[in-house]
Amino acid sequence: MLRQRADEVTDIDSRLVQLCDDMLETMYEAPGLGLAAPQVGVQKRFFVYDLGAGDGSQVLINPTITESDGEWEYYEGCLSVPGLGFDIVRPKTVHITGVDLDGNEVSIEADELLARLFQHELDHLDGVLLLDHLDDDQRKEAKKALRKRVMAEPVQEDLETSGSFLKFR
Ligand code: NI
Repeated sequence: MLRQRADEVTDIDSRLVQLCDDMLETMYEAPGLGLAAPQVGVQKRFFVYDLGAGDGSQVLINPTITESDGEWEYYEGCLSVPGLGFDIVRPKTVHITGVDLDGNEVSIEADELLARLFQHELDHLDGVLLLDHLDDDQRKEAKKALRKRVMAEPVQEDLETSGSFLKFR
C-alpha cells in the first residue's frame, strides 16, 4: 500500500471530512506533524498536518509542488521506519498548490520545516519512502537497525507505527 501512487480526490464529502478528523487524532497521538492518507490505508491524494506554530490543524487535498529551490539538510524521521532518523538534503523552499476541505484553492510558499513536511507527505502520496532518499551508507545502517528490531520485538501493525512524523533533534 505504501508503495502505490495514490489517486486524486474527486469529491470532498462528509466521509472525507470525518476521515481527516480521524487522521488528525492519530497524528496528534503519535505524536507527529503530518499524516498522509496512504498511511492509514486510503489511496487518495491528501494529507493532514500541524506544525504546532499556532495555525492549528490543516488539510491539503490534491497537492502539487510547482516550484522548489535551494538545499536544506534536516534530520528527518518517519513512523513507517520507526525509531530511525537521517540527515536528508532536500530543496529548502517549495511552492505547493492544492485544495482545502472547503474546496478552496490553496497556494503556499513554504520554507525549511514546512517545506520539508510538504515534501515528506507528498512522497507518501507517490509511494516514495524515507529509505529511498538515503545514500548507500545510510541505507545499510537503516537495514541493520531494522533487522535488529525485527529480531528483538514483534512487528506492530497498528496505525501508530505506520504514522508519519518529522523528528526534532
Ligand atoms: Ni512519513
